[in-house]
Amino acid sequence: MYRTSTCGELRLADVNKQVTLAGWVQRVRKMGGMTFIDLRDRYGITQLAFEQGNEQQNALFEQAGKLGREYVIQVTGLVKERYSKNEQLPTGDIEIEVTALKVLNPAAVPPFTIEDDTDGGDDIRMKYRYLDLRRSCVRKNLELRHKMAFEVRSYLDGQGFLEVETPVLVNSTPEGARDFVVPSRMNEGQFYALPQSPQILKQLLMVSGFDRYFQIVKCFRDEDLRADRQPEFTQIDCEMSFVEQEDILQMFEGMTRHLFKTIKGIDLPALPRMTWSDAMKYYGSDKPDTRFDMRFVELMDVLKGYGFSVFDEAAYIGGICAKGAASYTRKQLDQLTEFVKRPQVGAKGLVYARVEADGTVKSSVDKFYSQEVLQQLRQAFDAQPGDLILILSGDDANKTRKQLSELRLEMGSRLGLRDKNKYSCLWVIDFPMYEWSDEEQRLMAMHHPFTSPKPEDIPLLDTDPAAVRANAYDMVINGVEVGGGSIRIHDAKLQEKVFEILGFTPEQAQAKFGFLMNAFKYGAPPHGGLAYGLDRFVSLFAGLDSIRDCIAFPKNNQGRDVMLGAPGPIDQKQMDELKIKTVK
Ligand code: AMO
Repeated sequence: MYRTSTCGELRLADVNKQVTLAGWVQRVRKMGGMTFIDLRDRYGITQLAFEQGNEQQNALFEQAGKLGREYVIQVTGLVKERYSKNEQLPTGDIEIEVTALKVLNPAAVPPFTIEDDTDGGDDIRMKYRYLDLRRSCVRKNLELRHKMAFEVRSYLDGQGFLEVETPVLVNSTPEGARDFVVPSRMNEGQFYALPQSPQILKQLLMVSGFDRYFQIVKCFRDEDLRADRQPEFTQIDCEMSFVEQEDILQMFEGMTRHLFKTIKGIDLPALPRMTWSDAMKYYGSDKPDTRFDMRFVELMDVLKGYGFSVFDEAAYIGGICAKGAASYTRKQLDQLTEFVKRPQVGAKGLVYARVEADGTVKSSVDKFYSQEVLQQLRQAFDAQPGDLILILSGDDANKTRKQLSELRLEMGSRLGLRDKNKYSCLWVIDFPMYEWSDEEQRLMAMHHPFTSPKPEDIPLLDTDPAAVRANAYDMVINGVEVGGGSIRIHDAKLQEKVFEILGFTPEQAQAKFGFLMNAFKYGAPPHGGLAYGLDRFVSLFAGLDSIRDCIAFPKNNQGRDVMLGAPGPIDQKQMDELKIKTVK
């Protein structure tokens, strides 16, 4: 037997027991006639004590002194109460008085210290990710991920869902990103695409009668990476038959509540619902961070027409009120102006107005506005003495709202309103069916082309497709889109029409999605579903800044796995078999 106990479980109640532990040497501390070793495994750290004394003790003491960091060892000894206890450690009341020590494997000196507070930078930790994963702060995120996936399965199983695996070698799926492709050796010149999601397959499963499906599944998207995006990520993918939007929202609100309760011990209140158009109007974002209010106020009526050309010519003027921020210094306001002017935000400038202690308003554009107009401005926000009003304008209303949304988030962060331990969840509903793409010069599906329009908006498909709302919804937590889905079209005729509006000829639609439309001829039940991003959900629960930290072996910003050296070249033999020619 390699061990009787783990390094995380021994307590005062175990004193005088003989135990055997195995693990990694985290630290060796030599203190005169004593040597202490912190022994680590997945479960924790236990202190080992070696004291000079009789012949056997001296031999062990000497052996311990030669151990290096990360050696794998096995020790047997007696559990003793410690003289100086360590309250930081769950095992901090005890230590092991070692009577036998065996080196199971020596270790080279690791390239960084394997402790929570490590000296290793990002790159080196990713190169040696298997060592990074020994750190408890990293391991905890994977433990949380496991627990969440487990609770998801438990909830969905309890609701009668079946987990069905779908293939990874498929063809293009319409989620709007680029595909990763795999050449087929047996079919020269042809390629599989890796699924961006199992969307079409889960809809086919509904045609097959699997009326409650889920899958915790890898998806692949070749898109630019961000903190909340990886080229391969995991979805909790779900689909149900004989449901309306309300059924889906209830079912998955239930799942979210189950996760909050079992994992975080939080009783989640009913999720508020916000229409997409309100989200854009009041927050400039389809994933508003509702941990704090600071809603937009439109100021076209208040500030236009007083000779300030920037506002007079604007298509949109809007602002936010930062409570208690009137004391911001010139320097802080300059920083905010710099922030909105950064290319990533793209505003031309920032106008501010402070509400003074006596209620008067002092603005950066005082020469254009009388105190009377500035008081109207104040009323529009119901601003109180000590508040700071920040205003942006622009010639494109949507772009300006996005810029104001960035400013709102920045102010939320600066004012400490985005506490990672607080959660604010909501559904955003009634997304538009289509959005205009400047690049493609056509309407594109906002969610995906299988999303059904709201029944009352179907007549608009012929007259004003851009105004059609979809039966589509996203779940948003703390400004992160954790999940999204829709009720699907199950009528082949309506599907054809939607393809037509998206610019597919009947032949193109047939070539791309013919099998789905064909399947719909054989009795497709009304159905709908959604998918959560598991990585995003876990990182929210763990309070992480990047989803990378809850993925065992993530890719870096260039989409590389620096540990495996992937992607990399392949042998000429493999290239030849695949009939791929190197282009110089
Ligand atoms: P969607 O494209 O909105 O919908 O994806 C669902 C959820 O997956 C997560 N997600 C990602 N997470 C990490 N890295 C990425 N690159 C990434 N892309 C998406 C997000 C998102 O909310 N088939 C539909 C779902 C449906 O209609 O049922 C779909 O894939 O959290």
